[in-house]
Amino acid sequence: MDIISSITEMQSFSLAARQSGKKVAFVPTMGFLHEGHASLLREGRRRGDILVLSIFVNPTQFGPNEDLDRYPRDFARDETIAREAGVDVIFYPTADTIYPPGYSTYVDVEGALTTVLEGACRPGHFRGVATVVAKLFLIVQPHVALFGRKDFQQLAVVRRMTRDLNLPVEIVGMPIVREADGLAMSSRNVYLAPDERRQALAIAAALHLAGQAAREGECSPRKLLLLAEGRLHQEPELCIEYVTIRHQETLREVDEIDADAAMLIAVRVGKTRLIDNAMLLV
Ligand code: PAF
Repeated sequence: MDIISSITEMQSFSLAARQSGKKVAFVPTMGFLHEGHASLLREGRRRGDILVLSIFVNPTQFGPNEDLDRYPRDFARDETIAREAGVDVIFYPTADTIYPPGYSTYVDVEGALTTVLEGACRPGHFRGVATVVAKLFLIVQPHVALFGRKDFQQLAVVRRMTRDLNLPVEIVGMPIVREADGLAMSSRNVYLAPDERRQALAIAAALHLAGQAAREGECSPRKLLLLAEGRLHQEPELCIEYVTIRHQETLREVDEIDADAAMLIAVRVGKTRLIDNAMLLV
């Protein structure tokens, strides 16, 4: 497994792989890998001849009061997980490599996709995500890139950007991986104190309750939202940022539940912000 930090080296590597007819699969991450990332890597391994993992804590997607400085990092552990998953190259640039002095170009996906939900709670977040993902695609030049569905809105934004910019990359969304007790895997779970972690289980429980009711025939978004909110309120320390039901591609609110309806939740538990989601009929 190679570790590459230079953009030109990464580009040459990918170009050579492509020229020799190899299919390049790519998993972009911010490191501190968990089983969710490992599932993306395994699928990438299956789909590509060459598997590239990027580890880059992207400063432009963090707001001024967010957790950029304390975002968890453990490169040695990430390396082990990557090796076990059969990664060929870890692209591991510094912030200065990606954003050298004078850097001025950003990718803005306009409209509701980036202004609602996470976009409203975290202004500028998706500009940072779209910019770094576009740059990573130009550096790694993958045929296929894999993203987790836990970052539901991010996946919709990346799909939109890839279509709009005609980037020749197939985007694959992968299922959320959960702990045995239902908590969606996230690098930020490490911030949770034991009691906060227990409270956080209400998120998956609320999604489960709403999904179960939808599959049993409840088709009123309002009633499903009340059910989910009721479950979250059983943990009074949870601070709800949003609970909403949206169309999976447009992220518009829906009037009726159908196969495109997803419930999305964002809460704060202590100082930690957690997001989760589920398709209601799948
Ligand atoms: O989901 C993440 O880890 C990040 O947002 C991504 C896609 C690697 C961009 O920095």
